[in-house]
Amino acid sequence: MKELEDKIIQANSLESLEKVRVELFGKKGILAGEFAKMKDVPGPEKRAFAQGLNENKAKLQASFDARYEALKVEEIERVLKSEAIDVSLYGTVAQKGALHPVMETMDKIIDYFVALNFSVESGPMVEDDFHNFEALNLPKYHPARDMQDTFYFKDGGLLRTHTSPVQIRTMLETKPPIRMIAPGTVFRRDFDVTHTPMFHQVEGLVVDEKGKVSFANLKSILTDFLQYMFGDVDVRFRPSFFPFTEPSAEVDISCIFCEGKGCRICSHTGWLEVLGCGIVDPNVFKAVGYEDVSGYAFGLGVERFAMLMHKIPDLRSLFEGDIRLLEQFR
Ligand code: PHE
Repeated sequence: MKELEDKIIQANSLESLEKVRVELFGKKGILAGEFAKMKDVPGPEKRAFAQGLNENKAKLQASFDARYEALKVEEIERVLKSEAIDVSLYGTVAQKGALHPVMETMDKIIDYFVALNFSVESGPMVEDDFHNFEALNLPKYHPARDMQDTFYFKDGGLLRTHTSPVQIRTMLETKPPIRMIAPGTVFRRDFDVTHTPMFHQVEGLVVDEKGKVSFANLKSILTDFLQYMFGDVDVRFRPSFFPFTEPSAEVDISCIFCEGKGCRICSHTGWLEVLGCGIVDPNVFKAVGYEDVSGYAFGLGVERFAMLMHKIPDLRSLFEGDIRLLEQFR
């Protein structure tokens, strides 16, 4: 009896206690074996024998139940301990995102023109010679093509070097009047502190009946736009050349770093060049079959705007994918 009780007490896990249970109380267990001996006990002693067995069984059952409870509590404590969460530990903090400065600048530019009822158009990044050059008054072998270092495909296709082909596509698809901008990605073989082979432009085009669109309109809208983007700056239009506009101008703002006094960033000129524009060349209208219309167009580099607005010294840093750059713009 003592031996059986020890078995129960020595069981140190629920599993080993279960083994003991089968051994003692099971159908073929020790107790069942004892009860089976009843049939060999002489008649008059049967009663006392059975009573003794039943008492022992009850005692064993009681120690079993007590041991079971104790082990159960131990088990729960063990699980609680192993699954405990230390709420005072540092966790992995989710990184908060931020708009890329190029996207943010692009959005700001788009907002301005959408508020003035310009539509937002788009076109393919893989272009053909006609839309990227020919229709923009840039015939084959024209020296002005050298202004844009082009990535060509073997089949003659190319990565668009500017968003101006979207002007051509939009004019071929719709009738005037047109008031559109075309934000998009463009590509040139260029790589230094102020150039990356992939960058973004926003193109603008306004076309209406002949005489309705003037250089004065262009000048006033771009002046207002640049002051919206850069604050209280002076704006100046400088004669320039683009094959698809005549006359053409490059537009400068007074240097936002030195307020026009002259510094390293404006090469001591007091001015920063920010976009190109002009009156649409008649040859462009001819290429898309437009007659008796006039128009103006402009194009700007979004990275250049972002660089100036955020005082980012190296344009290449915008595309290195270094999270520390974005963290500064949260
Ligand atoms: N497409 C020109 C460029 O990429 C910019 C431009 C657009 C100039 C429209 C004039 C008119 O440099």
